[in-house]
Amino acid sequence: MRILIAYASNNSTTEMCAKMLADKLPGAETVNLTRSKPDPKDYDVVVIGSCIRFNNIHQSTLDFIKDNVDVLMKKKTAIYICCGFPEKVNQYLLHNFPKKLLDKSFSIQCFGGRFKTKPYKLFDLLIMKMVKKTFRQDNRMLEIDTESINRMADDILENMV
Ligand SMILES: Cc1cc2nc3c(=O)[nH]c(=O)nc-3n(C[C@H](O)[C@H](O)[C@H](O)COP(=O)(O)O)c2cc1C
Repeated sequence: MRILIAYASNNSTTEMCAKMLADKLPGAETVNLTRSKPDPKDYDVVVIGSCIRFNNIHQSTLDFIKDNVDVLMKKKTAIYICCGFPEKVNQYLLHNFPKKLLDKSFSIQCFGGRFKTKPYKLFDLLIMKMVKKTFRQDNRMLEIDTESINRMADDILENMV
């Protein structure tokens, strides 16, 4: 079974998560959608990943879904997002992904997020400073949720048999 993990990331968290997931799935291929456009026809399982910015998924992930929705509907699909407010994950999913794709995906996870915004852009730093302040006030942490990554890896392995 060929596994594609197609992702788009602004500041590398979503990319890190794609690689952490791929490490658990022998032979899985990770493709950065901002650099190339893989053909989902060539795979049996397609994992679609994106970061969230201002409630939206990355434009490259959006384009990948739009360009391939008919093929994706015939494949085994899984979806993950990386964001700062995991409690809003359902809102982000419904706002960004076709409902029919959400309904048929065998695994949908939020892999958490990070405050780290390298390479540093002034705008990103300002936004993150505001978000960090809210988190400090609420006594909250923002980190990659490795358990969710493990859960998706298990879901994929189960769906390969
Ligand atoms: C400019 C900017 C806007 C963001 N907007 C949101 C948002 O609307 N909702 C959210 O939950 N997180 C938001 N975040 C947090 C990111 O989703 C989080 O930092 C994530 O780890 C980014 O993934 P990436 O490193 O792959 O780009 C935002 C971050 C930045 C820098």
